[in-house]
Amino acid sequence: MLKEKIKKIEEISVSEIKKAANERALFDIKVKYLGRKGKLTEILKSLKNLNENERKTIGPLANQARQKLESEIAKRQKELSEKIDWEREKIDITLPGKKTEIGSLHPITLVYREIEKIFASMSFEIVEGPELETEWYNFSALNFPPDHPARDMQDTFWIRSEKEKFVLRTHTSPVQVRYMEKHKPPFRIIVPGRVFRNEATDAAHEHTLHQFEALVVGDDVNVGHFKYIASQFFSVFFGKKVEIRLRPSFFPFTEPSFEFDISCTVCSGKGCPSCKNSGWLEIGGAGMVNQNVFASAGYPENRYQGFAWGFGIERLAMMKYKIDDIRWFESGDLRFIRQL
Ligand code: DAH
Repeated sequence: MLKEKIKKIEEISVSEIKKAANERALFDIKVKYLGRKGKLTEILKSLKNLNENERKTIGPLANQARQKLESEIAKRQKELSEKIDWEREKIDITLPGKKTEIGSLHPITLVYREIEKIFASMSFEIVEGPELETEWYNFSALNFPPDHPARDMQDTFWIRSEKEKFVLRTHTSPVQVRYMEKHKPPFRIIVPGRVFRNEATDAAHEHTLHQFEALVVGDDVNVGHFKYIASQFFSVFFGKKVEIRLRPSFFPFTEPSFEFDISCTVCSGKGCPSCKNSGWLEIGGAGMVNQNVFASAGYPENRYQGFAWGFGIERLAMMKYKIDDIRWFESGDLRFIRQL
């Protein structure tokens, strides 16, 4: 009985081993017969219950069967490992390849780099400051009166804090005072940077913007210097002769203060839809540094003169690349960035 059973197991298992399609299937067969609860293992384990006579005949038979299975498994194992699975190795040369995507720079980065290049060529130093600013640097040091509307929650992002009052800087002007505290005139700097306004957004308004500030201070710096430097910069930036126009304005940190226009970069001042037929485009604010700002930085009163301006970088990028909606810049839409 047991003899036949062993023969049968040997026969069936050997034929299964030969047919095993892959290594996984072969492993399963091995477990089925030789595993801890395998069919042949069970028989080998039961040998101890037999009487001595039976054990003498059945024992060697069962061991031979085990050796046979083991050698057949090893044989099949070798065959399978040498066999190349052509189905898996097949390469479909008609499949399209994986393209390596090449990135492109954001228009704000492009304009940043252009601005920095032009000002570096005019010996300006490029300076940066913190985006999280104290109320002192963002407002008070710049001569904003305590009740100025810009200090309002509606216009500015205030940060809840215990001791000092912090804001997300609303302009790059605070870096003027930070720089002057550490440097003596004469100097010329530009400050590119990100600024924040508590603003309802539309095609012309964003809550996150970029500006660049300029500050030139010395013994006898005047408005003529400012107009010259500005017209040099804009002419190089737009690649054509650009005229400057100043209109009286007010900023707490300059005296006198100006609104600053450039001749229309589309029609060169003749009048077109881009400039609403005025021939001019509004760019930003500027002025001669207020002596109170020099005082905030610790400079003696009426000792120095200087000019400053603050321009929006988005506005320049919109003009240069003909972008019609300011919200594109922060949209994260790659189709927008890839065009440039
Ligand atoms: N900080 C002003 C703003 O964001 C812009 C500005 C105006 C900057 C006049 C200046 C300046 O340096 O002189 O609206």
